[in-house]
Amino acid sequence: MDVKKVLAIETSCDDTSVAIVDNTRFVHVCLSANQDLDHKPFAGVVPEIAGRSHTLSLLPLVDKTLSQSNLHWDDISGIVVTSRPRLVGSLMVGVVTAKTLSMVKNKPFIGVNHLEGHILAPFLRDNDYEMDAPIEFPYLALAVSGGHTSLYLVHEFGRYELLGRTIDDAAGEAFDKLAKFLRLGFPGGPNVDRIAQNGNKSAYQFPRALVREDNYNFSFSGLKTAVMREVEKMSDFQIQTQQSDLCASFQEAIVDVLLVKLFRASKRLGISKILLTGGVAANSSLREQAKLKADKNKVELYIPPLRYCTDNAAMIGLTGLLRLNKGETSNQSLGPSPRSFEGDFYVQ
Ligand code: KG4
Ligand code: ZN
Repeated sequence: MDVKKVLAIETSCDDTSVAIVDNTRFVHVCLSANQDLDHKPFAGVVPEIAGRSHTLSLLPLVDKTLSQSNLHWDDISGIVVTSRPRLVGSLMVGVVTAKTLSMVKNKPFIGVNHLEGHILAPFLRDNDYEMDAPIEFPYLALAVSGGHTSLYLVHEFGRYELLGRTIDDAAGEAFDKLAKFLRLGFPGGPNVDRIAQNGNKSAYQFPRALVREDNYNFSFSGLKTAVMREVEKMSDFQIQTQQSDLCASFQEAIVDVLLVKLFRASKRLGISKILLTGGVAANSSLREQAKLKADKNKVELYIPPLRYCTDNAAMIGLTGLLRLNKGETSNQSLGPSPRSFEGDFYVQ
């Protein structure tokens, strides 16, 4: 198939995003509607609210994306949608919309795995961003966000080995839960990051789960419990004065575990290219320490601009475009799935 431009839809969690990407990996427009205000009163993403909000935002965003790009449906040769994994009610809005647009506009469409989007995000380019030198296969990709903490060995386009992932909470989810517990506002990660800047990261020794285990899995629920136990012993005044130390020590525990496992994989597998992606890649301490470790270990570190690290339709568009051009398509039997498909990633 010769697909030149796709319109892509991403609704796997709480961001409605639509983009147009072409076969030179160029992002013409990528627009997102943020739902933070909807979820703020609950200090976390409420799946039902997320799904409802997508239904309100999605079609207007499709129109806006086309008009801002000065492109028309005639210029679009395929439609791409995230169909898995994550919140089914949210994914459903995107999937049903993509299927309907495909029928009405008579274009091929494909449902793709959200995580493949994160893995391929560094290849995107736009007027302000292009990789200095293309990241070469094989590389390691650590996807860290509110929904996932997974480490992949990316052999080539379409061949991804899942090395390990969280067995309970995702790293971003842990940040969000700490913020909720300390009443720091939503979304929690950026607030914890900001408050941690004034704290002492050695003030508390929080657990580093699974760090000595001979695998690449992560676990963050024990960390959350450890902080809660610590905070329960404190008065409101102490919590207030210790807040920055708590945030800094908590953040350090997460960053430490992520980087120990990531660089251990790099060393053991002899892979000297690393991609950091997902919303948590915005974390200042993670970025800083990853850069230091990369320099020390002579590893090339790639962190795409934040707009392509957080959930966005551009990465979904690129993934789907590559797949459509390999001759793959979905049909009207496609449905949303909370999990990845068996063939998406393989495990040794
Ligand atoms: O990739 P993303 O936009 O959406 C998904 O969850 O898939 O990631 C959002 C997550 C949230 O959990 C948010 O708290 C976290 O990324 N996050 C951060 C920071 N900025 C966003 N976590 C730690 N430090 C940050 N600076
Ligand atoms: Zn994501």
